[in-house]
Amino acid sequence: MPFLRFPPGFVWGAATAAFQIEGATQADGRGQSIWDEFCRRPGAIRDHSDAEVACGHFQRWAQDLDLMRELGLQGYRFSVSWPRVQPGGRGAFNQAGMDFYERLVDGLLERGIQPNCTAYHWDLPVELEREGGWLNRGTAQRFADYAGGLAKRLGDRVDLWATFNEANIFTLLGYETGSHAPGRREGAKACRQVVHHVLLAHGLAMQAMRPHVRRPGAQLGIVMSPSAAWPQDRRPGSLRAAANRFAMDSDWWMLPMTQGRYPAFAWKRLGADVPEVQGGDLQAIHQPLDYIGLNYYSPARVVEDPLDPQGWKPVPHSPLAPRPDMPGWEVFAPALRGLLLHYHRRYKLPIYVTENGMSVAGDAPDAQGRVDDPRRIDFLSRHLAEIHRAMAEGADVRGYFHWSLMDNFEWALGYTQRFGLVHVDYATLKRTPKASALWYRQAIQQGGFEAPDYPDQPNHLVANERDPDAAL
Ligand code: FCB
Repeated sequence: MPFLRFPPGFVWGAATAAFQIEGATQADGRGQSIWDEFCRRPGAIRDHSDAEVACGHFQRWAQDLDLMRELGLQGYRFSVSWPRVQPGGRGAFNQAGMDFYERLVDGLLERGIQPNCTAYHWDLPVELEREGGWLNRGTAQRFADYAGGLAKRLGDRVDLWATFNEANIFTLLGYETGSHAPGRREGAKACRQVVHHVLLAHGLAMQAMRPHVRRPGAQLGIVMSPSAAWPQDRRPGSLRAAANRFAMDSDWWMLPMTQGRYPAFAWKRLGADVPEVQGGDLQAIHQPLDYIGLNYYSPARVVEDPLDPQGWKPVPHSPLAPRPDMPGWEVFAPALRGLLLHYHRRYKLPIYVTENGMSVAGDAPDAQGRVDDPRRIDFLSRHLAEIHRAMAEGADVRGYFHWSLMDNFEWALGYTQRFGLVHVDYATLKRTPKASALWYRQAIQQGGFEAPDYPDQPNHLVANERDPDAAL
């Protein structure tokens, strides 16, 4: 088996998000977020749970940092709860809430772990939701004020910053399908308006944060989760469907941020559903990104559908494909390489894989107290091998943050999914590193790992590299 060596500067890390692990939703003057509220909506969360306790990380942060050090992590991606540090979403910061993140960042640095901070991982203060949430243009300025304030307080100590986590996902699930907070079904046109406001918020926040990003070498960017549209077969129609689906999703976000314009092809396809854009918006959105953060979990398989206005339809995963326990997801690492190469060639920016992982519902300690999770080790090995391949082909990938450091509250699926390298017993909050955590620690120590020679799949995402302004 070949040994896949990663370059010395490559950051090996893990990720979490505030709402999913902290708990203590009433502590120290924290305000309420749309997710606190969504959890109280009957039927919204599959196991009727909430995140009042979650992993109890708010109280256990110091032990959790020790655990990260024991696992040899070099970077830790966390998010800040907006209502904890600025209850109500405007005005003065709540110092008691801010102290938590100050301690966390200092604790990381003391242990030699790079802090990677995301300003928004989906927990909007409820007061802003009352004013229309992201459908209200004013929320963009509220966010910029908050993110600027955050950078002012932590900018001397944080290495990697992101404005938003998966901007393309929370807008869709929160405002179009309604399966995530705030649980609204506003239709496609309103959702595009939400997207425009989030893009504007990103641009304004980049400007507000930039002067405070002071740690030497620190980088400021955004985390996206583009659907890795993969053709179901090699027929030209399927290739076209995948390319067009990818364009509508990825280019729609990336072109405004990197070129200050919406892609002409996608704009035309939307017809009357295009958003209202005010003069100066696109200039505000177009701010230099230091890196792109990419999250990847599962491919989006598609075929052409001439009857569909967008020209494609999704294909369910084959029952034979390896799957995580997350409903509807498939384990398919080659699409990660495709994404990395596409983003590298198109945007020529450093890339971090800011999330990647798999849920195994039944992870649990055995009689000896060990948690054996061979499927996660196989997942890690396959995905890191594809990252290695993409890097060999030129992609400038600077690090990998596994989702997640520990099992946690998986949004609308509650505690039914276990994504952690570390097992959490929700009754006692005891942490137990799984076999995958020990595998990962060894890979970090060795700067790589031995991997089987995985078959080299044709890369459809690069084959579909297309002019963002033209239909295929
Ligand atoms: C991503 C989210 C993250 C986690 C994983 C499984 O979409 O960013 O919070 O829920 O999925």
